[in-house]
Amino acid sequence: MKCKRCLEPGIIDIRRHNASFCGDCFLHYCKEQVRKTIKEHSMIFDGEKVLVAVSGGKDSLALWDILLELGYEVDGLYLALGIGQYSQDSHAMALKYAQSKSLKLIEKDVQQALGFSISDSPRIVKRAPCSACGTSKRHFFNSVALENNYDVVATGHNLDDEAAVLMGNVLRWDLSSLSRQSPCLAAGNGFVRKIKPLVRLSEREMAAYCIIKGIDYIVQECPMSKGNRHIGLKEALNAIEDRSPGTKSAFYLGFLSKALDSFKQEENFDFTTLQPCKVCKSPTPSELCAFCRLSKKGPSVVNNR
Ligand code: AMP
Ligand code: FES
Ligand code: ZN
Repeated sequence: MKCKRCLEPGIIDIRRHNASFCGDCFLHYCKEQVRKTIKEHSMIFDGEKVLVAVSGGKDSLALWDILLELGYEVDGLYLALGIGQYSQDSHAMALKYAQSKSLKLIEKDVQQALGFSISDSPRIVKRAPCSACGTSKRHFFNSVALENNYDVVATGHNLDDEAAVLMGNVLRWDLSSLSRQSPCLAAGNGFVRKIKPLVRLSEREMAAYCIIKGIDYIVQECPMSKGNRHIGLKEALNAIEDRSPGTKSAFYLGFLSKALDSFKQEENFDFTTLQPCKVCKSPTPSELCAFCRLSKKGPSVVNNR
């Protein structure tokens, strides 16, 4: 197929748009999808400082690159989770990209702050590692952004991620999660604004973006995420998408335009119940925030939050 935009030979087909693009026009397409998402959901305003959470994977590195290309002021945040070689390799990729463009990369040692690594967390907290990992990420994305005066935190969640989470939420009719499944969560009550500008782009497109731009990323998935239920949901959605291209984006983008608001009205969270955590001052409905409760379970508590 010829490139939809310039009619040169296409190198990547996007079946859900019934289109093919050459390399340059594909990069343009990715940028425009992100620009559109940012505008549609009022994600970033003029002059704001953005902190992008970078894992060293394709999505977050492509996101950093695209936001810079769109002219935003963006620094990176890398969290060292203590997952052996996987963490070392992902750190190397995040650092390599930052250094190649002389960008600022803030680094935070989660293992040190928590008192144990994410790999050790199942033994200590008797739950899947993704649980301690998610709590730590939510905690540091917010606290590091607030401490360093960023207006917004951006993560690399893509269309495949969000459609799988949506499917999981719908299958369980988890109304509380559905009401919060927005690609832009407003700031306030001790929370910084959180955005997911890649929700119109697929995993495959983000890999292609990095390859075309020569951005090195860690290909390996997190070894702790084996058996994660979202992997099964992604496979199910891919099987459907394969037979009917466009279903995945219709499902997720349709949710945003047609259903999210009604779930928001159903589940009105009462922010007046929030108070500062006794230890780290993060907003929480309890005395201690989820992260500080987690760190108390470890063998030693290191005061580095
Ligand atoms: P995941 O939770 O692994 O699906 O990752 C979702 C998003 O969280 C990524 O696209 C990144 O933006 C961010 N993220 C994941 N791992 C890290 C990390 N170690 N440090 C900073 N950000 C991360
Ligand atoms: Fe969180 Fe693997 S990245 S458990
Ligand atoms: Zn706390």
